Amino acid sequence: MTNRLDGKVVLITGAGSGLGREASQLFSSEGAKIAVVDIDGDRAEQTVKLVQENGGDALAITADVSKKDQITAAADQTAEHFGKLDVAWANAGVISRGGVPSVMGGEQVLFEDLTEQDWNDVLGVNLTGVIYTAQAAVPHLKANGGGTIIATSSAASFLAYHDISFYSATKAGVNGLVRGLALDLGPFGIRVNGIAPTHGMSPNFLMPAGSPVVGQSYEQIAGPWEPFHSPIPLKLNRPPNLLANAKTPLFLPPDDSAYMSGSVVNSADGGTLGRVGIWFPEDLDQPNPNA
Ligand SMILES: NC(=O)c1ccc[n+]([C@@H]2O[C@H](COP(=O)([O-])OP(=O)(O)OC[C@H]3O[C@@H](n4cnc5c(N)ncnc54)[C@H](O)[C@@H]3O)[C@@H](O)[C@H]2O)c1
Repeated sequence: MTNRLDGKVVLITGAGSGLGREASQLFSSEGAKIAVVDIDGDRAEQTVKLVQENGGDALAITADVSKKDQITAAADQTAEHFGKLDVAWANAGVISRGGVPSVMGGEQVLFEDLTEQDWNDVLGVNLTGVIYTAQAAVPHLKANGGGTIIATSSAASFLAYHDISFYSATKAGVNGLVRGLALDLGPFGIRVNGIAPTHGMSPNFLMPAGSPVVGQSYEQIAGPWEPFHSPIPLKLNRPPNLLANAKTPLFLPPDDSAYMSGSVVNSADGGTLGRVGIWFPEDLDQPNPNA
């Protein structure tokens, strides 16, 4: 039986934890060779070990995506080691300072108190890092006669969340970049798409750098799963997880999505983005009691 990604060489940034780690294992189980890129070299090595334990082929590369020379060297090293590059997944991302303080018990930072450094930190990884990753990959994809670029955006690029406006702005930038690059790179047979996760994602994202990798989603570690207590409109008898998010882009590299480019897909939102925000009274012809 052939696997969906047999013979593909896939570079994934931020692959030392969370979605990138899960995707490395999934894509490897589908036959791909994986360049596991992360700013944290120990995490990258751990992911490679997990892939290898399952019989896969992976290479750990330590690189900071916000540094053009580092991610360029990572793409070059990948192509040299595996002989080519088919897929670059720009997945590394960080939350902006003060983000989601109520969840983590951290300090809230007012928007007007966020600094130029705070903006540059989140911009550098989440948007500039995606640009640099794509730039590093394109010469190899062109040499290959085509390929796929995937970017990890976020539901925060479509929805408002408290305290993460900087983050949301960078992710909305990613969506714009996906559309622009799809246009510019289409003539070279390079497809560019994004995924916008929300539920089933990594709690490490809100934890300090270097924390042990949890490997389960927010919903999985929150205790017994009660679908009707969850804000997710879709009611399933299992919580959303990292694998659900990793599986969505699995159809982006192969021919399954041969004519898809310039799209940003919500990977495991369970209908959250389709929620109706307005409350309609059951009895519309009765006078409003609050009027
Ligand atoms: N976890 C969430 O709640 C959530 C929700 C929606 C979207 N996302 C996005 O998903 C993507 C993956 O995040 P995750 O949830 O798996 O988080 P995570 O923190 O578990 O993993 C992110 C990895 O990226 C690495 N990294 C951070 N900065 C880097 C840099 N400059 N260069 C290279 N690697 C770097 C980290 O070391 C870490 O291993 C990110 O783009 C994030 O914005 C996350």
